[in-house]
Amino acid sequence: METTSLEALRDEYERLKREINYHNYRYHVLDSPLISDYEFDRLMARLREIEAAHPDWVTPDSPSQRSGGPPLERFNKVRHPRPILSLANAFTLDDVRAWYERLVRLDERVRQADFVVEPKIDGLTVVLHYHNGQFVLGATRGDGEVGEDITANLRTVRALPLRIPVQESAPKPPERLVVRGEAFITIKDFEELNRRLIEAGEKPYLNPRNTAAGSLRQLDPSLTASRPLTLLTYAIVDASDSVPTTQWETLQYLKELGFPVTKDAEYCADLEAVLDACARWLDKRDTLPFEADGIVIKINDLRLQDSLGVVGKDPRGMLAFKFPAREVSTILRDIEVSVGRTGVLTPTAVLEPVEIGGVIVKQATLHNFDYIAEKDIRIGDRVLVKRAGDVIPYVVGPIVEARTGQERIFEPPQTCPACGQPVQHYEGEVAWYCVNAACPAQIIRNVEHFVSRSAMDITGLGIKIVEQLVKKGLVHDVADLYYLTKADLLTLEGFADKKADNILRAIEASKSRPLARLINALGIHGVGEVMAATLAGIYPDLDALSQATEEELQQIEGIGPNIAQSIVDWFSRPTNRKVLEKLKAAGVWPVEKKQVAPEVPLPLAGLTFVVTGTLKRFSREEVKEYIQSHGGKVSESVSRNTSYLIVGENPGSKLERARALGVPILTEEELIAMVEHSSARSQ
Ligand code: IVH
Repeated sequence: METTSLEALRDEYERLKREINYHNYRYHVLDSPLISDYEFDRLMARLREIEAAHPDWVTPDSPSQRSGGPPLERFNKVRHPRPILSLANAFTLDDVRAWYERLVRLDERVRQADFVVEPKIDGLTVVLHYHNGQFVLGATRGDGEVGEDITANLRTVRALPLRIPVQESAPKPPERLVVRGEAFITIKDFEELNRRLIEAGEKPYLNPRNTAAGSLRQLDPSLTASRPLTLLTYAIVDASDSVPTTQWETLQYLKELGFPVTKDAEYCADLEAVLDACARWLDKRDTLPFEADGIVIKINDLRLQDSLGVVGKDPRGMLAFKFPAREVSTILRDIEVSVGRTGVLTPTAVLEPVEIGGVIVKQATLHNFDYIAEKDIRIGDRVLVKRAGDVIPYVVGPIVEARTGQERIFEPPQTCPACGQPVQHYEGEVAWYCVNAACPAQIIRNVEHFVSRSAMDITGLGIKIVEQLVKKGLVHDVADLYYLTKADLLTLEGFADKKADNILRAIEASKSRPLARLINALGIHGVGEVMAATLAGIYPDLDALSQATEEELQQIEGIGPNIAQSIVDWFSRPTNRKVLEKLKAAGVWPVEKKQVAPEVPLPLAGLTFVVTGTLKRFSREEVKEYIQSHGGKVSESVSRNTSYLIVGENPGSKLERARALGVPILTEEELIAMVEHSSARSQ
């Protein structure tokens, strides 16, 4: 009786291993799972239960072994059964033709040859040994003769079959089978990994390749297990039995056994088809889910390929057609800061000139100051620069290993490089702004906005004229418009009497615009048309508005601490005050009669909110402003004091924390409903 139940349990165990490995294959290789994660976890739990009771039953192909085992002291060396060769490169279609012609001269049979082209995955070569269908050893390429034993790490790669064939209906593999493949991280998984790291306040990785390489060379397999590595196989290095003799059939065969194989291999009947594929792949490159640095052209007949021999470490019968590089390393000589027309301070990398994809790159964007700090980019660093398609070249990050100790940490400027005035930062935004209305870098933009239709509506004063006025030094701030004379205008290109008169008339007419338009025209950060109208409804003129305190402004519907601070700041700047004086002296000083006491009920008073994920109706800044303007507080992290967590798409770890602490969770619609209901009640 005892024996039978033990036998039954053993059967169940064997069945479970096969079943779990199969579902793992459906999920990680075919990308088409048959069961839910929950059901999968249940099967795993049962397996672990049996293994706990019978540890002596556990085999290396048990899915429980994917956690990788204990940390190693070092990697053992592994001699490859055959040299793990490399590839010669071609950069143009002419290079490909020349390769073909050389081969034909060497062996006439090449003229009849057919080919296979495959994406060249930018990852790490791995050599996988199977014995009687069991994965027994996995190695890096090393120097091509001897690699390192990274079996424990490779076990954690879900796409790697621990036992072949994965499906029992498939042919039985040779007793000894050695397969070559590429381990890598998909672009999507890489971005997700970095998103999590940044959210956790940690430094993001540089690129998928470096991350994959670093992950596979971890001595602690549990670290490898935590990285989203995957695998594609493309060659049989060695086998104890006969295996397919063409590349095309090899790919089919590997697939049949349950190995992950690229979906993007193409069969090419002749050289013309190969050249056509090369040209098409230059565009198709961006559709791949992983980074590819080229395509590999392979003579389909493996025996012919073999007979062509090797030059150095490159087999003659294969060729890598390389895509133009998109990522190149160079030295970051300096970081320059410029002021854009919106007043945003933008850091630019000054680079040791370098060619990327046929273009010499001397400058690259660094996005913003947070980016420089997050990536720990230092002046003097060797940095990776990326240029993809139409994207402006940008600095991906520093190559930390190349540091000499001479690198300098960059300090963002406290003052605007164009006008020397202090710069301003708004909470929740990454950008730093120059808010000085008289900053030369911004005058053109400010004047353009001032005269625009939604502001002072000065017809005829287009961007071209504004640019001329500023460049000629006739206009230094928006108030100067009201001091222009006909003689001034006649010095401009294309101006005659009539045009000058028309412009002067339009400027004169704008003096009577209502206060709301003037407030909007001033271009105060965060104050657009709607907010300007609200303010004009409360304050009779700019004198009154300029005296409002932050506390007072925050009582107004729609104004949170950021906008309140931005308004007070604007009016406190001497340069802006001078503009106001000049406007007043020129008679541009609308006064509104009515005055409404700013008494607004605040529905979210006393509540603290945390936001996670991407919202549909609000940006991060907008939702903060919305909550604050209704009396609520916004905090960055979830604690016991959090009243509600607002959840959008792809929420981060804050959601789990909120759940753990029992913090109630709201969607953005529920937040809006909360505000609207309580506003309705209080009316
Ligand atoms: S075939 C004998 N096929 O590219 C050479 N290599 O620069 C066998 N690679 O070391 C290589 N994808 O790591 C081949 N579909 C593919 C590949 C591929 C990526 C890598 C491989 C090799 C390197 C050569």
